[in-house]
Amino acid sequence: MRSVLIFYLCYLLCLGLGLACVVGVCVWNSWWRGGFAWDGSSHQFNWHPVLMVTGLVVLYGNGAVVYRIPLTWGQNKLPWKLLHAALMLLSLILSIVGLCAVFDFHNSNNTPNLYSLHSWIGIAATALFAMQWVVGMAGFLLPCSPISLRELLKPVHVWLGGSILLLSIAASISGINEKLFFALKGNQSYAMLPSEAVLGNTLGVLIVAFGLVVLKILANSEWQRPDSSPEDLAYSPVL
Ligand code: HEM
Repeated sequence: MRSVLIFYLCYLLCLGLGLACVVGVCVWNSWWRGGFAWDGSSHQFNWHPVLMVTGLVVLYGNGAVVYRIPLTWGQNKLPWKLLHAALMLLSLILSIVGLCAVFDFHNSNNTPNLYSLHSWIGIAATALFAMQWVVGMAGFLLPCSPISLRELLKPVHVWLGGSILLLSIAASISGINEKLFFALKGNQSYAMLPSEAVLGNTLGVLIVAFGLVVLKILANSEWQRPDSSPEDLAYSPVL
């Protein structure tokens, strides 16, 4: 009972921090960075942080902990599998649009692509995520995939899932830092800690806190959905 209560406290924290990250990144890019457009300008770039943080951090993190909610354990696993896959698909789509925004912005302004450490970590996170989604879909939802394969895949899927979250947090932190150094110049330099820098730093801290709460939920074995429930054994794949 105590463990369930602590889970829900962590889950509430996860929802609250996730919401704060989305609000923070939207406020930063709409009020401080001038809003959004799709015309090759810096306003197009502004989609990038918003879509990456919303997709590859917040939606991804929430999708990862869906199975851990104790309230769902007595129920058929299939709808929760579908919800997990759907949240991850939405997260992947937002991330891909977010990457298109920055690649297109760079190409329109003759800026080289993929030169920074941020971009290397970020592209690795997105590529691994796309691969994880395809393998997960085939391994866990296709009827032809045998139980033995699913058992083999599961620990790798869980480990890679946590690693992708770590990579996307590293990408977000380095991206925020890079943007603040690029954008804040003159008497509004980063070192003067103007209000935009405080907001950017705070956003980074919120993203790290969100990631730590998600990883804590994933790491606690007491919060893992019991595999042997009759509902799970009665599972039949959809496709
Ligand atoms: C999961 C999160 C993120 C991922 C996977 C990611 C990925 C990437 C990638 C692959 C590029 C290279 C695009 C190109 O070479 O044309 C890039 C560029 C950039 N990103 Fe992100 N990003 C993320 C979050 C953020 C955030 C939150 C910011 C904050 C503003 C940001 C700021 C930048 C900046 C300034 C660039 C252009 C400079 C550069 O290429 O390093 N990114 N990002």
